[in-house]
Amino acid sequence: MDIRALDIHDGPTPPASGLLEIARRGLRAKPKRLPSWLFYDAQGSALFERICEQPEYYLTRCETALMQAHAAGIADTLGVGVRLVEYGSGSAVKTRLLLENMAAPVSYVPVEISPEPLQQSVQRLNGQFPHLPVQPLCADFTRSLRLPIPPRAPRRTVLYFPGSTIGNFDAREATALLRKMRTEMGDNGGILIGVDLKKETSLIEAAYNDAAGVTAEFTLNMLVRLNRELGCDFDLAAFRHRAHYNALAGRIETSLVSQCAQKVRVGRSQVAFDEGEAIRVEISTKYSLEEFAALAAKAGLEVLRVWLDPERMFSVQYLVRAGSVAR
Ligand code: AVI
Repeated sequence: MDIRALDIHDGPTPPASGLLEIARRGLRAKPKRLPSWLFYDAQGSALFERICEQPEYYLTRCETALMQAHAAGIADTLGVGVRLVEYGSGSAVKTRLLLENMAAPVSYVPVEISPEPLQQSVQRLNGQFPHLPVQPLCADFTRSLRLPIPPRAPRRTVLYFPGSTIGNFDAREATALLRKMRTEMGDNGGILIGVDLKKETSLIEAAYNDAAGVTAEFTLNMLVRLNRELGCDFDLAAFRHRAHYNALAGRIETSLVSQCAQKVRVGRSQVAFDEGEAIRVEISTKYSLEEFAALAAKAGLEVLRVWLDPERMFSVQYLVRAGSVAR
């Protein structure tokens, strides 16, 4: 994922001309790359939902189990009178568990770039919590946000960023995003964030190479999108999904690999591929607790609490401004 505020584009779907420029630039780069936000058209978002249900994709299962086990303790740590701002429309289960356990939340602000999922989450939450003010914000959370005025003064603003989406940003982008969040939450605020942990390589690689082939379809869907929106002529049978754990970098690196030497139309020009040449489309970083604490520290934050799921595969962490807690 790229942070657009730092000039790399990752905001609302750009017009076709902007998209063409992004595709052209990425496919001319060496090595070739395309931004991972391109995954999430309607079909890609539906495929991501299906990834979350695959037995190998432990992230969703573990984070949900964690919330089931610890929602009360987490809510207790956040305290009374919180304004909860969620980055991304969020999974119904995790958000519900959190809100159910929170004491007198002031409001819930889902931040989502696509209007449809945002609308759906508002309807769902209104049904589940008829007395909770829900203040949706249709925006790109990687950019600085203008939060809606809350119905009453909150004791604190907590930014909820589940799913380990932070892992889709490289170290520089992740630091910049956490710094932006630090500003947004204010002096007394906090960040509740899902962070996937380092573990046996085989388990991580299986999560991104599920047996049913849903992740492969999700990755290839990026080419379907470029064919549809830009009139490219990617032959889907001539590219293959590859997700490999780079132990040195501590991350899954996902690519689309050309199965032969070929040329593909992108706009008015053609892009040449060698046999075996890859387009990098995503990274998914896995952290140790120490590594994540160091990343947070770079953004002026400290880890106040960490919760783990029963299998100890995934963490949810509560971050506050460094030095803000009296010891
Ligand atoms: C959204 N994000 C945290 C997912 C991940 O695990 O990196 C996206 C994903 N890509 C392939 N599978 C899931």
